[in-house]
Amino acid sequence: MIVLLRSVLSPASLATVGERLAVADWRDGRVTAGPQSARVKANQQVAQGCPHGNELGQMIVGELERNPMFLSAALPRHVFPVLFNRYAPGMAFGPHIDNAIRPIPGTPHRIRTDLSATLFLGNPDEYDGGELVIQDGDAAHRIKLPAGDMVLYPANTLHHVTEVTRGVRLAAFFWVQSLVRDGAARDILHNMDNAIRELSAVTPDHPALLNLTGCYHNLVRRWAEG
Ligand code: NI
Repeated sequence: MIVLLRSVLSPASLATVGERLAVADWRDGRVTAGPQSARVKANQQVAQGCPHGNELGQMIVGELERNPMFLSAALPRHVFPVLFNRYAPGMAFGPHIDNAIRPIPGTPHRIRTDLSATLFLGNPDEYDGGELVIQDGDAAHRIKLPAGDMVLYPANTLHHVTEVTRGVRLAAFFWVQSLVRDGAARDILHNMDNAIRELSAVTPDHPALLNLTGCYHNLVRRWAEG
């Protein structure tokens, strides 16, 4: 399931991101690509050791940890340190599937990428092209969101970023290893949590809500890995 998360970053945080990225250490984006995707990847990324990028990444993860929709949709076990990319005119990222396993730089750990996330840092009117296209069977979802909005999508999907033809597309991206590995199970839990949230807003004292919430937690207990 593709999930859109609105206003993940506040305008104040977005301003901080803009200031820091302007002075960050930008490199060729192929540094984090596997050999296959390196052939179709043409963009720039902030170097993984860049203090501006690291600080911004920690700020973004901090905001996500307080975002109930992110927690509900991702059920995160591990969040990969946030990366930043930039597409200037002529840059694109052709069709690929993200690597299944990612070593976390500077640590002996690696995560399984269950979900991919793109957080848009510029508004759609600032650039032409630069759509994230996620293939879903024969259908394609074309995604281009306002600054501060994020898309969370299954990491096992074929996707690409169309060529930017005007302006600059700035985004943050990262992967999540979920407590619930199975995407279908995760979708059920997210739908159920949304339904409970809607019901709670309308009829907070209904006794069945207690039961339903209990079922949600018992399903998480059944499906979550340690
Ligand atoms: Ni990708």
